[in-house]
Amino acid sequence: MNPTFSESTLSNINRLLSRYPADKRKSALLPLLHMAQAEFGGYLSPETMDYVAQLLTLRPIEVYEVASFYTMFHKQPTGKYVLEVCRTGPCALNGAESIIDYITRKIGVTINEISSDGLFTVKEVECLASCGTAPMMQLGERYIENLTEQKIDDIIDRLKHGERLDIEPNPENSILFRSCQGQSNG
Ligand code: FES
Repeated sequence: MNPTFSESTLSNINRLLSRYPADKRKSALLPLLHMAQAEFGGYLSPETMDYVAQLLTLRPIEVYEVASFYTMFHKQPTGKYVLEVCRTGPCALNGAESIIDYITRKIGVTINEISSDGLFTVKEVECLASCGTAPMMQLGERYIENLTEQKIDDIIDRLKHGERLDIEPNPENSILFRSCQGQSNG
């Protein structure tokens, strides 16, 4: 069946599009792709991307280009939880490779595969701008920083048991937080 946004999403989209001139509808592409991924099974199939292109009067290739550039858009089905582990720069220097190896062995998957229980997919991603707390990964909208095997054990076990993850960002460790606060003279 062809993807079709729900009435409420379409009304949000119309509100969004009203912010842009008619010839600049492409500016709404990123939010539309997020909505599409959320509404159509957690990933962007070719049919979904074509549908978004049609809504924005774009050529499908314009949508494919953007969707394939950003790692937050999944082009194939994923597990319920997508562990996006940074593999570049400071994360690589701080053990990302062995962390990725540990996570995939613990879950029993290869990169981009869905675990047999349908719960997990592990992805390797580029810098997530939290280099000061390397190695780190993103889980949904949450950053999980200063990864250790023990922390991974705890997170995966809790997710398996359907527990909430109350991992608040640690301001002391967050380079983003420090940048926002500005340099202290003290
Ligand atoms: S290198 Fe991993 S967050 Fe920047």
